[in-house]
Amino acid sequence: MSQVLQIGVIGTGNIGTAHARSLSHEVSGAEVAWLFDADASRAADLAAELGAQLAPTVEDLVVSSDAVVIASPDAMHAEQALLCLAAHRPTLCEKPLAPTVEEATTVVDAEVDLGRRLISLGFMRRFDPGYMALKSGIPAVGRPLVVHNVHRNTAAPYGLETALTLTNSAIHEFDINRWLLDDEYTSVQVITGEPGPRTPDGELDPLLVVLTTRGGALVEIEVFMNAWYGYEVRCEVVASDGTLDMGDGSYITRRASRQIGHDVPELWLGRFEDAYRRQLQAWVDATHLGKTSGATAWDGLVATISANAAVAAIGNGAVRIDIPDRPALYA
Ligand SMILES: NC(=O)c1ccc[n+]([C@@H]2O[C@H](COP(=O)([O-])OP(=O)(O)OC[C@H]3O[C@@H](n4cnc5c(N)ncnc54)[C@H](O)[C@@H]3O)[C@@H](O)[C@H]2O)c1
Repeated sequence: MSQVLQIGVIGTGNIGTAHARSLSHEVSGAEVAWLFDADASRAADLAAELGAQLAPTVEDLVVSSDAVVIASPDAMHAEQALLCLAAHRPTLCEKPLAPTVEEATTVVDAEVDLGRRLISLGFMRRFDPGYMALKSGIPAVGRPLVVHNVHRNTAAPYGLETALTLTNSAIHEFDINRWLLDDEYTSVQVITGEPGPRTPDGELDPLLVVLTTRGGALVEIEVFMNAWYGYEVRCEVVASDGTLDMGDGSYITRRASRQIGHDVPELWLGRFEDAYRRQLQAWVDATHLGKTSGATAWDGLVATISANAAVAAIGNGAVRIDIPDRPALYA
């Protein structure tokens, strides 16, 4: 492996471009060497900007690179992650690991067969200073009883489909809450109300998701994909001896013109910029040491199992979440 990791990025849309720029300009120990996108012109523009080369196929990119970032659409993640595992390439795979439990399981099975962890999952909230402070603060407030979460998007980024809301967007919540609590879910309920004004016929938005955990905590999540006013993520932990409130993660409060307030970002890139950069640096550092960082393929599978149970729960009351035994590779 080179001293400076030669990274290949698959998919140069919103997040692939942001990761490639961050790897090139903000992260040490790596450079973007190869790009592939199904839309070659999009990848060509970014390649010219960053001085990277265009790979003719995903397979070529994988074998030419020291390590790979997968930032293609959800449906491609499992197939491309399997290619990376077959070539023994450390990989940062964007969330979700896969939209379906079956596909996500094939990746975990392949990694277990390999006997070596190579996949890191792009659950970047684990690197967000707000969430990290929440997690480290929990012991001081006692046993978590309830977690209240708000997940609002300005507009549904890939069109509003209720199942996609759960498997693509709320999947961040499924991951971060089990990470925060160090606990596993046992059931999920999805409560629906009158759809908001920008909800297509037959779809549901906003949703309330309520999860129970083995440790007895309640996790409640408002997911509102077409909230319009801006992008906002909030989290409050109610524990036996106190509460912790992350607020909306903005660190600057402005007082001016007899008003008090702060900006609301339009996109996740604004809110989680720091987390994405920290995630990439941690992944590059871990790759140099032959390790993974942050969430694993196993975490990706558990999040996909939880999200699909939530899809099954729509209109059906509480649905059990059955998490299989964790393979020793992920102990
Ligand atoms: N971690 C996060 O917070 C976060 C934020 C945004 C997106 N994402 C994830 O990143 C992925 C990409 O999202 P996006 O918003 O950048 O989407 P996007 O539509 O902006 O970009 C996707 C790119 O992939 C390309 N593509 C399509 N098929 C491909 C294939 N078979 N191989 C390679 N490239 C292909 C498209 O041409 C496009 O350029 C999604 O899975 C999404 O869930 C994660």
